[in-house]
Amino acid sequence: MSTSILSELKARFTEACLKAFEGTDAALNQEFAANFDPSVTPAKDTKFGDYQCNAALGLTKKLKKKPHDIAAQIIEHLYVSDLCEPPTIAGPGFINLFLKRDFIEAQMVVMQKSDRLGIAPTDKPQRVIVDFSSPNIAKEMHVGHLRSTIIGDSIARILEFQGHDVLRLNHVGDWGTQFGMLITYLKEAYPDALTKSDALALGDLVTLYREAKKRFDLDPEFKDASRLAVVDLQSGQPEATKAWQLLCEQSRREFQKLYDALDIQLIERGESFYNSLLGNVVEDLQQIGLLQKDQGALCVFLEGFTNKEGEPLPLIVQKSDGAYNYATTDLAALRYRITQDKADRIIYVTDMGQSGHFAQVFQVAKRAGWLPDAMLVTHVAFGLVLGEDGKKLKTRSGDTITLKSLLDEAIDRAQIDIEARNPEAAEAFKQEVAEAVGLGAVKYADLSQNRTSDYRFSFDKMLALQGNTAPYMLYAYVRVRGIGRKGEIDFDSLESSQSIHLTTEPELVLAKHLLQLAEVIEAVGEDLFPNRLCQYLFELSQKFNQFFEQCPVLDSPEPERTSRLCLCHITAKTLKLGLNLLGIKVLERM
Ligand code: ARG
Repeated sequence: MSTSILSELKARFTEACLKAFEGTDAALNQEFAANFDPSVTPAKDTKFGDYQCNAALGLTKKLKKKPHDIAAQIIEHLYVSDLCEPPTIAGPGFINLFLKRDFIEAQMVVMQKSDRLGIAPTDKPQRVIVDFSSPNIAKEMHVGHLRSTIIGDSIARILEFQGHDVLRLNHVGDWGTQFGMLITYLKEAYPDALTKSDALALGDLVTLYREAKKRFDLDPEFKDASRLAVVDLQSGQPEATKAWQLLCEQSRREFQKLYDALDIQLIERGESFYNSLLGNVVEDLQQIGLLQKDQGALCVFLEGFTNKEGEPLPLIVQKSDGAYNYATTDLAALRYRITQDKADRIIYVTDMGQSGHFAQVFQVAKRAGWLPDAMLVTHVAFGLVLGEDGKKLKTRSGDTITLKSLLDEAIDRAQIDIEARNPEAAEAFKQEVAEAVGLGAVKYADLSQNRTSDYRFSFDKMLALQGNTAPYMLYAYVRVRGIGRKGEIDFDSLESSQSIHLTTEPELVLAKHLLQLAEVIEAVGEDLFPNRLCQYLFELSQKFNQFFEQCPVLDSPEPERTSRLCLCHITAKTLKLGLNLLGIKVLERM
């Protein structure tokens, strides 16, 4: 089977409905031709089945029959005997399905043998752009950017695993009027850096930005010079360009430290990249007839976005002074990604505060005819990161937190923990564990939340050994590996041709959960909520623990022993893959 069981069942039910009802209703026929949804889901209550199909209830109106009779008709045309026990009808017309034990056992053998756990790469690979992280040059990279980095990376990993061709783009804010002020300040305060091309001399750019802003706000002459510097930069004047490059270089170096620490791959393609295309965007919008002048600015009046008076809101694409803005750049970027990068799907990962911006940009691109109908553009929005007190994240002394210090603290705390548990261990080992646990904890804490809610950053919670946390998950993996060490088992050479026998309830429960990996990955690939994968892994660890408490492994006789070792192995492989898709490295011991 090349897809998940859920997808396979959906296909089988669609086919059954088609056979049973094709030609009976015009509207239904249209659905069959387009996108009929057989409403198959994992069962809510596992007492009644593993999967259920609710199609009959949805078809009653169209077919003018009792749902129970419709369900019976569907079953008549349904072929699932290779996967499931005979289907049963419950309540008004739900169809319940239990997977066959021998099918589950056969699938376990497939998972045991495969390094992709039996999940084939997609047969419809797409070119996907994930636009994430995207901090701003010379400004502070804040926790919102950290969240974008962690969520975007995980989404990219999942799509890559599925076999898509993913372009990871860092849309850094490297252009705009703030550079006038920065360049002017740089010339004044670091003239040497400019002549020697020494970005390092600039030191911490956040401080530099603050100082520059101070000068800008206090000194009108400085302000005027800054305006001129913007013009210089835009016209490619060498000195201004050099200064801009130095600033970008220094920022890049600082960002890169964080990406290295977090093991993030990204291609930088900042706002400046689209500079030469901005004029075209405005011209083309003009030509299509979408542009209007409003108080000197050129804009597109939006549909469905209104002010208090109910009048349509404008999306400004060129200000009255001739300057382009964030929206113009995103329109140019969108066009470039469609026409030049040949993207089939584009994903933007930023905080929810930008939802309006993206909805507006997408609308204008659609109305301009730049966005093909089949093209999937999604804003993956997320909530705020808050401190434990529910307010903005700050240090104890009230300063804003730097991301570096945040990660360092997570690692330090993990270090204290390993030191207490295992003081005798080698330093290098303790360091490795502390880093994996600390960084894993930060990533997992973020990813395990439904991204649309705000989340409270708590070191204590994310580093706890119990609960839905990285340490808990990492321990589960270590425990399974420990079983192998204790029994001196070479998991990879476990006789894989051997069949796996699931004799007890906890084994069956664990195996069924393992089988759901494919559908969880599919779901995250579609709706881009990595917390589903976290929840899946958490439940997997729990089900594994129950199995391990109730079923002896190393001490049981054959054939149970090998069967159970295989279950251990598949569990470990699933945890490792799952955590890897979240950007978290596993440890063999901790
Ligand atoms: N630089 C922006 C910020 O810090 C995020 C950019 C997101 N990507 C985009 N194509 N607009 O808010």
